[in-house]
Amino acid sequence: MTDPQIVLTERVQQALARAFGSEHADADPLIRPSQFADFQANVAMSLAKRLRRSPREVAEAIRAELSDFPGTVEVSGPGFLNITLDDSWIATEAGQMLSDARLGVGTITPSQTVVIDYSAPNAAKEMHVGHLRTTIVGDSLARMHEHLGNTVIRQNHLGDWGTPFGMLIEHLLDMGEQAAVAELEAGQGTEFYQAARAKFEADEAFRQRSRVRVTTLQSGDPETLRLWHVFMGATVRFFNKVYDLLGVTLTDADIAGESMYNAMLQKTCDDLESSGTAVISEGALCVFPPGFTGSDDKPLPLIIRKSDGGYGYATTDLAAIRYRVHDLKADRILYVVGNEQALHFQMVFAAAKLSGWLPDTVSAEHVRIGMMLGKDGRRFRTRSGESVKLMDLLQEAVDRAAALIADREYDDGTRAEIAHAVGMAAVKYADLSVSHESEYVFDLDRMVATTGNTGPYLQYAQARIRSIFRRGEIDRATATGPIALGAPAERALALQLLGFGAVVEQATTLSEPHRLCAFLYATASAFTDFFEQCPVLKEPDPAVRASRLALCALSLQVLETGLDLLGVPVPERM
Ligand code: ARG
Repeated sequence: MTDPQIVLTERVQQALARAFGSEHADADPLIRPSQFADFQANVAMSLAKRLRRSPREVAEAIRAELSDFPGTVEVSGPGFLNITLDDSWIATEAGQMLSDARLGVGTITPSQTVVIDYSAPNAAKEMHVGHLRTTIVGDSLARMHEHLGNTVIRQNHLGDWGTPFGMLIEHLLDMGEQAAVAELEAGQGTEFYQAARAKFEADEAFRQRSRVRVTTLQSGDPETLRLWHVFMGATVRFFNKVYDLLGVTLTDADIAGESMYNAMLQKTCDDLESSGTAVISEGALCVFPPGFTGSDDKPLPLIIRKSDGGYGYATTDLAAIRYRVHDLKADRILYVVGNEQALHFQMVFAAAKLSGWLPDTVSAEHVRIGMMLGKDGRRFRTRSGESVKLMDLLQEAVDRAAALIADREYDDGTRAEIAHAVGMAAVKYADLSVSHESEYVFDLDRMVATTGNTGPYLQYAQARIRSIFRRGEIDRATATGPIALGAPAERALALQLLGFGAVVEQATTLSEPHRLCAFLYATASAFTDFFEQCPVLKEPDPAVRASRLALCALSLQVLETGLDLLGVPVPERM
């Protein structure tokens, strides 16, 4: 691990132990970036009180124990330790990072099995923008966990079951299978649903047929199941088009929709009832997890079997959590789902703990996804108030990106490829760069801009580095340095790059891809400063040139790897 903040933390902790005894070896030295040095350690202030000594005295004692330190340490003000690393240390660490295929990113030992529940659109309706963020954030988390050596099991918990399917199947029969399939594959799921719904409301005979169809579907009638498969097949083929366009790693093998748990629901309820975890209340089977009360101060039920005998969303999620712990052997389960389902998951997790299905050794976490807002600050919708179709929105992003590169002399194929990469980067990065639980305003103009903290800006930075190697006709694998730091912009860039491993690990463990985004943005900015101040190909001194090329190679590797972990494509040129 080369991250300077981590290295310094260890060094200062050792100094603390030597100066004040081993009971201080775990104290947080409070290392922060500093205006006056590379970093400052603020620990002397907090420790002084406990030791009944002045902060300056404490700081001096720590400094005295840092004599073998690869840099300078000064005591300033009331007792800050200002730390400046030696250029040679930074250069050596950066050189090591360049020769390390993992770029200083460690692996998690022992590795964990991480189940990630994400995307999860509903088949009864078309996939809409609400599912964009859950898909993109979840996919980035999957990529990051895999990169750290964890076993990732993707679970696409499709909404593929329930009463609407009676009406949908009847509508499919009315339309004719072929026509229905064509409509669904083309992404007209919403229209399909609305047409079925309209008939259901207007036509008594259709309503009757639909109700009967729900029952035959639930009873497992083979012909009805076949029709359900026809409907689902077409719907999933459309979902896959969206995933392909987005470059999302989900495949059909990751589908574990609600229907998958049907056969387990009765046993789920029986087991909960016989263990006394669930009780009958007003005819429904309910779990009352402690600590949840409604507005009337009465205990809040998690209904797992309605009074009419039907199962619901919570029943499926309880069966799913049991399956994920017991069969998939999860160490960690991440639910990348909208904020508005927070209470549902809190109650499901609590009920699963009560029943013993979620032991303390397994952590179940709701990665809350904030709402996407329109420019008016309300839920993002079309002008006529409908929810925006994901495909339309992605197409618009690609069109905007195409306009951006309209004046470049590319052939049509290359142009289309770049427009696609830039459009997806714009949308995906915008989703990832804000903390996942916060709401954000969908604004394509800002998202496709090549300046500011955007996906296209980062793509541009890496494409610019690639063009240096292209123009110089240099194979970047040969750019191995040695790295020597002269100009301040070289030093700042190298110091920045050293933080990569730590930030990847942090973003992964905390489920916060936006930390990686912020790091990559700072890296691209440091590279831009370097590039403006330090000639590379035109540098006459061969040693300086070699060092700068190595810094270019390392920056490129970090940007490429980082963007790939986010699922943002890296075009060769822009
Ligand atoms: N299909 C649900 C929705 O669109 C999300 C499912 C999330 N996963 C889960 N295990 N409940 O709201």
